[in-house]
Amino acid sequence: MTTFQLNGKTVIVDLRPGTTLLDYLRQEGFFSVKYGSDKGETGADSVLVDGKIMNASLMLIHTVNGKTIETVESFATGRDVHPLQDAFIEEGAIQCGYCTPGMILAIESLAREIETPSEDNVKDVLAGVYCRCTGYVKPIKAAIKYLAAKNTKGHEGK
Ligand code: FES
Repeated sequence: MTTFQLNGKTVIVDLRPGTTLLDYLRQEGFFSVKYGSDKGETGADSVLVDGKIMNASLMLIHTVNGKTIETVESFATGRDVHPLQDAFIEEGAIQCGYCTPGMILAIESLAREIETPSEDNVKDVLAGVYCRCTGYVKPIKAAIKYLAAKNTKGHEGK
């Protein structure tokens, strides 16, 4: 048995050996997590594991026992999207959208790790997510906008 938290809910599974976290998530309808390759180079399969960006295709399901998994499905509630998703929309940073969930999770992992990330930090973290539409400028702008707003908010009232 494998027990973990997935988007705030406890999940208990007993799956065949060799099942990856990507296999499980796709089977359960978490379609924001996508297949990109068998080796995780594309970042399309990104998820947050205990707040850190990881490749779901490289994780066997039993290795997530006791961990907390987040996908982009947990970022929006109905039509209320996460402020980072809002920044992507405002900056026109979404083209086909295939890479967008991975980018959102990568930026969020950075925001949680470093209080005031630099543009270079943003570029570094997005280097792990391939955009076949080659649209990196606008996602970087969206990330910087989100991080600046988050930082300003975080310092209000201090
Ligand atoms: S928006 Fe199409 S792959 Fe990035």
